[in-house]
Amino acid sequence: MCGIIGYIGQKNVTEVLLNGLRKLEYRGYDSAGVALLEDNGIEVVKCKGRLAILEEKLTGNCFGGRIGIGHTRWATHGEPNDSNSHPHLSNSEKIAVVHNGIIENYLQIKEFLVSKGYRFYSETDSEVVSNLIEYNYRGDLIAAVTETLNDIEGSYALGVVCTDCPQQFVAARKDSPLIVGLGKGENFIASDIPALLAYTREVYILEDREVVRVSSESVEIFNLLGERVEHEIFHVDWDVAAAEKGGFEHFMIKEISEEPHAMQQTLWPRLQGGEVVLENSEALLAAVADCHRINIVACGTAYHAGVVGKYLIEKLVRVPVEVDVASEFRYRDPLVEPGQLTIIISQSGETLDTLMAMREAKRKGSRTLAVVNVVGSSIAREADDVLYTWAGPEIAVASTKAYNTQLAALYLLTLAFARAKGLLDTASYLAYQEELRLLPDRVAEVLAQKDAIQKFAAAHFNAKSVFFIGRGLDYALALEASLKLKEIAYIHSEAYAGGELKHGTIALIEPGTLVVCPLTQEALFDKMLSNIREVKARGAVVLAITPAKYAAAVAQTADAVLTIPDMDSLFSSAAAVTPLQLFAYYVSLMRGNDVDKPRNLAKSVTVE
Ligand code: AGP
Repeated sequence: MCGIIGYIGQKNVTEVLLNGLRKLEYRGYDSAGVALLEDNGIEVVKCKGRLAILEEKLTGNCFGGRIGIGHTRWATHGEPNDSNSHPHLSNSEKIAVVHNGIIENYLQIKEFLVSKGYRFYSETDSEVVSNLIEYNYRGDLIAAVTETLNDIEGSYALGVVCTDCPQQFVAARKDSPLIVGLGKGENFIASDIPALLAYTREVYILEDREVVRVSSESVEIFNLLGERVEHEIFHVDWDVAAAEKGGFEHFMIKEISEEPHAMQQTLWPRLQGGEVVLENSEALLAAVADCHRINIVACGTAYHAGVVGKYLIEKLVRVPVEVDVASEFRYRDPLVEPGQLTIIISQSGETLDTLMAMREAKRKGSRTLAVVNVVGSSIAREADDVLYTWAGPEIAVASTKAYNTQLAALYLLTLAFARAKGLLDTASYLAYQEELRLLPDRVAEVLAQKDAIQKFAAAHFNAKSVFFIGRGLDYALALEASLKLKEIAYIHSEAYAGGELKHGTIALIEPGTLVVCPLTQEALFDKMLSNIREVKARGAVVLAITPAKYAAAVAQTADAVLTIPDMDSLFSSAAAVTPLQLFAYYVSLMRGNDVDKPRNLAKSVTVE
């Protein structure tokens, strides 16, 4: 996934583009570049590496232009290097393009353009767009862009400038997010809201297959048939501080620290007068009452939340739940049919695998419910129903508070569904709601153990391989804890069902191997303790995370114990994950890694 930005107005365009790219760098940071429309043509400055390197190259250059586009890249086609960086110029150097997405038929287009005498200087798919626009250009930029969009297949968010029209630029989107920022005597485009918050709170959220002509005084949106399209202005009510570090060293530790508040925002407004009240949920609950199967589809951390959801929904709603990673779900001709509910979980609401999986479920007649954090995102807008997680902006690439709030949303849905099916008596319904109301404070209590977690991380930050084992909901939790360590500490780790270890993988346990065990499920406590003894017998070092009431018993076997407040074990994952997120954070720090922008990753993967 990449970040794109564009500006036309009276401000210093380089400054506006760099400010915006700083807020988009979490979307990809392999390279960065800008294209500035100057009197003597298009000035392209771009390079491999972080945005700071581009800023250095731009320092001292006095570009007077008032229109430009910028890009920060997560490499898909072609390694991170200067020539593969965006923007890409057309052969005549009249047109420059920035692109987020994948052009699936780029090789055929490239072949055609080469046959017409065009030359290419990069390995990217995006470079064909600039030359195809040039090939289609006969004096009307938006017409040339529209014709090009009808020729290409794949996903795109595009910004296009042309030397023939210094009073406007053109942009377009399909499957990759793009918004238009509305100013006074100036207008913007960007991949995401944080890039524009410093300048405007009024935006248009472009829909798929829309193309927009932007000047300093006007924004005209068209569909690919050339018909004008009207949009409602979306007012962004985020506070700017929410998208900043706010005094924390990293976004990740800030976002972990925000978990109690994020859980509160997600839970409390929906626990009203003894009822779980989900906005606009009448039709959803009516559908669930007759629902015979639920699918849960997501990627990465969101998928791990879905595994927790499976355990909960099957236990209380008594409906079979199939949970799958989106990239597998959409290609296995899934057994989806009308009468089913497909829950789509996504922090960004833009993950292309997840978006396409949702479309596949809809195509097969399933009702779709999105559990999403970013308001107005593609998945949120296309689903039949939406339940927002109110985690606030999550900037760190490694998801933390969003995961906790995804669990909170799944807890609410489980109770609402069970009640809708008449499976939850009032006493249990009220007791579970009380548990949810207390969750934010319980997560806050766990955060108070930061020092103990940091100390344990200091003893193990050089581990070669780490195992996370658990049973039931603790196994689901182990999946997420393992991903956190892999993606920010770059340590190989594996999550394993505690009862499965003895069927082979225990062969990998040797003296000193670190094994981390969430141990919160009452019914599985003794079995899990036996698994801890099994690995201890082979020399493992064991860190257990367990409710306070079990700490003494567990401490007799485990080498270290972190506790969570005593609570109903149905909901303990949302508290037990926090120490595991902190563990990964501190290990990553001690290994000198970039915690917020880990290598090879991007915050939301809008390519397949
Ligand atoms: C989470 O730490 C990862 N960065 C990644 O796995 C992420 O969860 C996944 O890409 C899904 O993103 P989404 O929730 O925005 O759809």
